[in-house]
Amino acid sequence: MIEVRDRSHTLNSRDFKFICDYVYDAAGIVLGEAKREMVYRRLTRVVRERKLETFAEYCQILRSNPEGEKTYFINAITTNLTSFYREKHHFDYLLSKEFPTLLQKNKDSKRLRFWSSASSTGEEPYSLAITAHQAFKHVLSVWDVKILATDIDSNVLAHAKAGIYDSQRIEDVPQHLQKAYFQKGAGANQNKVKVNDTAKSLITFKELNLLHDWPMNGPFDVIFCRNVIIYFDKPTQQDLFERYYEMLAPGGLLMLGHSENLGQFQQYFENVGRTIFRKPFDT
Ligand SMILES: C[S@@+](CC[C@H](N)C(=O)[O-])C[C@H]1O[C@@H](n2cnc3c(N)ncnc32)[C@H](O)[C@@H]1O
Repeated sequence: MIEVRDRSHTLNSRDFKFICDYVYDAAGIVLGEAKREMVYRRLTRVVRERKLETFAEYCQILRSNPEGEKTYFINAITTNLTSFYREKHHFDYLLSKEFPTLLQKNKDSKRLRFWSSASSTGEEPYSLAITAHQAFKHVLSVWDVKILATDIDSNVLAHAKAGIYDSQRIEDVPQHLQKAYFQKGAGANQNKVKVNDTAKSLITFKELNLLHDWPMNGPFDVIFCRNVIIYFDKPTQQDLFERYYEMLAPGGLLMLGHSENLGQFQQYFENVGRTIFRKPFDT
C-alpha cells in the first residue's frame, strides 16, 4: 500500500479513496493512483487554509458537510491550466474557414452562438471573442452574436469575468491584437493587462457543472470542449458527447483538446481538422 507523506501529513489509502469517490461524484473527475501526488499537493494547501492538522480531519469535514464544502474543495482540486490561443490551429480554422462560411450560412437568422464549456480563467473564451470580433465586427450592430463561457470552478470564473492577467500571459498574442483588445495597466498594475469591452461584451460567464443539466437553449454553431473530458471516465465522456451533439446546430463544430478523441462517438461526426469535428448538416 503506497502512502504519500511529508513531515506533517500522511495521505492514507482510505482517505485517498474517499477523496477520489467524492470528486468523482461531485465533478465526474477520475483521480486514480497516478494523480495521488497531485491530490496530496492540493490537499496540503486545503488543510493549511482550513487550519487543520491532518488530511483525515479534512475528510471528516467532507463526510459531515459534503454539500457545504463542495464548491471550495472542487475549486481546490480542479486543474485550470490554459492560455491565450492555446491550440492556435482551432482559432486559425475559425477565422479562415468557419467564420466566413457562417456569415453566409446564418445570413437569414443573423444569429451566432458559441460555447466555451470549460473556460477556466477565461483565456479560451477571450481568444474566441477576439477571433469572432475580427470576423464579425462589420455585422455586430445588426447580428445577434453571443459567447457563453462556463466552468464548474467559481474561482476561475471570477478571474475570467474580471479579465485581468499578468502581461506575460499575452506575450505571444500578435501586437495588433494586443493593441486592439487589451488595455495596459498603470501604476501598481503596470505588469497587468485587462481585456477591453470590445471582446468582453460578447461573453456571458456562468457557473456550470457539465455533469448536471444544461439550462441553455442552443443550438450552438461552435462548441469548445477542450482539455476537460480527459478528466472523465469513458461512460461520462460518451454521455457528454451525445449531449454536445444535441446542442450543436446542423453543421456545427465541436473542438476537443490535443489529447482527446470522440471514441465510439466519432461515427456521428465528420473529422474536418486536427481535433475539429463537424456535426453533419442533414440531421
Ligand atoms: C485544463 S482546464 C481547460 C481550460 C480550457 N478549456 C483550455 O483548453 O485551455 C479544465 C477546466 O475544466 C473545468 N472542469 C472540470 N470538471 C468540470 C465539470 N464537471 N464541469 C465543468 N467544468 C469542469 C475545470 O474547472 C478547469 O477550469
